[in-house]
Amino acid sequence: MTKRVVLAYSGGLDTSVAIGWIAEQTGAEVIALAIDLGQGGEDLDVIRDRALSCGAADAEVVDVREEFAAGYCVPALKANALYMDRYPLVSALSRPLIVGHLARVAAERGAYAVAHGCTGKGNDQVRFEVGLASLAPGIQVLAPVRDSGMTRDKAIAFAEEKGLPIDVTSRSPYSIDQNLWGRSCETGHLEDIWEAPHDDVWSYTQDPAAARDPDDLVISFSDGVPVAVDGRRLSPLQIVTELNARAGAQGVGRLDMVEDRLVGIKSREIYEAPAAITLITAHQELESVCAERDLARFKRQAEQRWTELVYDGLWFSPLKSALDAFMTEASKNVTGDVRVRLHAGRAVVTGRRSPASLYDFELATYDTGDAFDQGHARGFVELWGLPSKTAALRDQRLAL
Ligand code: ARG
Repeated sequence: MTKRVVLAYSGGLDTSVAIGWIAEQTGAEVIALAIDLGQGGEDLDVIRDRALSCGAADAEVVDVREEFAAGYCVPALKANALYMDRYPLVSALSRPLIVGHLARVAAERGAYAVAHGCTGKGNDQVRFEVGLASLAPGIQVLAPVRDSGMTRDKAIAFAEEKGLPIDVTSRSPYSIDQNLWGRSCETGHLEDIWEAPHDDVWSYTQDPAAARDPDDLVISFSDGVPVAVDGRRLSPLQIVTELNARAGAQGVGRLDMVEDRLVGIKSREIYEAPAAITLITAHQELESVCAERDLARFKRQAEQRWTELVYDGLWFSPLKSALDAFMTEASKNVTGDVRVRLHAGRAVVTGRRSPASLYDFELATYDTGDAFDQGHARGFVELWGLPSKTAALRDQRLAL
């Protein structure tokens, strides 16, 4: 039987060289799998043709944008997922989806192994391999860049020697990964953490300092899921796409941070996530109106745990599944509209309304119409402070 390997193929230098490299080292046929996560850039048919000209036995292209938006971005939104309180998990979210398709194609094609182009220094190798361990525990993983000496110099030499149709000269100085939920950029001058990002790192966003009129929009949610923009009912994919354009034009969603990788390295990363930041800002605000106090307090801890599990490559873990069930339950009644002003690099909430609101004007008001009985407050405060008072009296007594 023919030996087969399924390779997660991006169309770039490393994975293009990996096709021939893996074939030479293993004697297997390589099947290239290219995934459309809304990263834009090159046409996927061009990428498929490149895989074939680089020696792939076959190449498959899958458009997973709807699946990514509904099954990965929406759960991240329900969890208000911001790693280290800032990074909306852009790359971390896409890996488990890619892993699912790798496992599927490997099963369909009878492949004994799958391959990826990750280095040994990042989080993505962990996400691929731990994900595969969950979905296809019997499969082997090949990581030529990490494990079989496929360094950049050797990759370029290999490409030139074999006459592969890849432009090895016009490479960007950055390592970039992008999809619908955002874009990450690292290496190059960014490795000096004192150096300000050069203008050429940005792509999803305009300069926040450039003068332009604000853009006001209304985002509607139903049980925590975004369902409309400005009253137009749209799919999650359509909403994310529209907000990337509108918030990106206002410079919303730029981040410059030093991040703790799972492998123990601190690294400087630049992110752009206009839609993700706008949606999370709006969603958090609606929750503050609709979620009962203790649920909201507990949810913040669960959110952080969910986010760390996903960052750390444990998307398919039992704790992550259990927390998903919690997030779904906690999202009930997170329904209503949030008005957001996009301007000068910020998404600022200016209004909220909800049929499931817990905000009660008659309880909150200091004007006429006040329904809150202040007479109850006195006894409540007395009993609430009773343990503190008892402890203080004990301390006084023992200090004598
Ligand atoms: N540091 C981010 C993460 O671990 C982004 C990784 C981006 N990957 C890349 N190959 N540039 O989620």
